[in-house]
Amino acid sequence: GIPQHVSIVEVGARDGLQNEKSIVTVDDKIAFINLLSETGLKRIEAGSFVSPKWVPQMADSGNVFTGINKANAIVYSALTPNVKGLDAAIEAGVTEVAVFGAASESFSKKNINCSIDESLQKFEPVIEKAHAHNMRVRGYVSCVMGCPYEGEIAPKAVSKVSKQLLDMGCYEISLGDTIGTGTPVATQRLLDSVLTVLSVDDVAVHFHDTYGQALVNIYAALQYGVASIDSAVAGLGGCPYAKGASGNVATEDVLYMLNGMGIETNIDMQKLLVATDFISKVINKSPASKVANALLTS
Ligand code: HMG
Ligand code: MG
Repeated sequence: GIPQHVSIVEVGARDGLQNEKSIVTVDDKIAFINLLSETGLKRIEAGSFVSPKWVPQMADSGNVFTGINKANAIVYSALTPNVKGLDAAIEAGVTEVAVFGAASESFSKKNINCSIDESLQKFEPVIEKAHAHNMRVRGYVSCVMGCPYEGEIAPKAVSKVSKQLLDMGCYEISLGDTIGTGTPVATQRLLDSVLTVLSVDDVAVHFHDTYGQALVNIYAALQYGVASIDSAVAGLGGCPYAKGASGNVATEDVLYMLNGMGIETNIDMQKLLVATDFISKVINKSPASKVANALLTS
């Protein structure tokens, strides 16, 4: 049934800012993450250790991690596609990392320059070394309901790579609707398949709001008991594959819905909106969030 408590993974500082055109300074990223730390969020994805040629927006993640005020109760995580990235993350004091694969061969090639099988081979030493450093590893699967190059993706392809990542030692699999094409019925089909091989406690959902379906997809996932949700304040981020598209589902919109359902998150809406307001002014964009537009006056 519907979970009583949901854990939100705030991905704005990573997924959001990696897709924003304007480069945000290290100081502004640090100030932003420090505001997020005040909200009650327990999981904050704060950057990624990837090739700066591929994602220049994240090139300063090491300085971001060493600069933020780390609260004991909060886990600050980072994306690490290979051992080089993991080593840089360890150097910066990161305690949880994520590897990121895909359910689409073409997307895997375009995003991390290798096939799905090759990516799993590359993740193996990353996961091993992270575990040796007592770090937990999250696994992302992209293109779970559609691919910008291949169109529809079969739920079976998602189940397969999700199970492989879990068996390799990832503690949670985040199912990413990278291009936001999924609908509630597709979400049901996806979870009907994935939950034959994964326990619901091992699953997170990661929806982009490109087609305005993210919140209703989350509602569908909640019916299955999914209790881990990725979101970004202000609905930060665009989508490099869809011009003018919106980014991740907005954390404040998710929070509003969860509050209305009586689901616990321990997140303070007013404090969340302070972070939303701050980062929106930094990137000079009004928030792509209904709740922020309703509640923020400036
Ligand atoms: P490659 O070119 O195959 O890698 O890229 P390589 O090992 O041959 O290295 C090439 C160059 O990159 C070398 O430098 C390496 O040192 C450097 P050069 O000798 O040419 O000067 N390099 C690195 N530098 C810094 N940190 C590193 C690193 N690794 C290599 N970790 C690679 C392969 C994976 C590195 C590249 O494709 C890459 O960085 N991709 C990252 C793409 C990315 O970050 N995408 C966004 C995140 S995924 C996402 O957003 C989806 C998600 O939100 C879920 C969803 O919505 O679906 C998670
Ligand atoms: Mg994403």
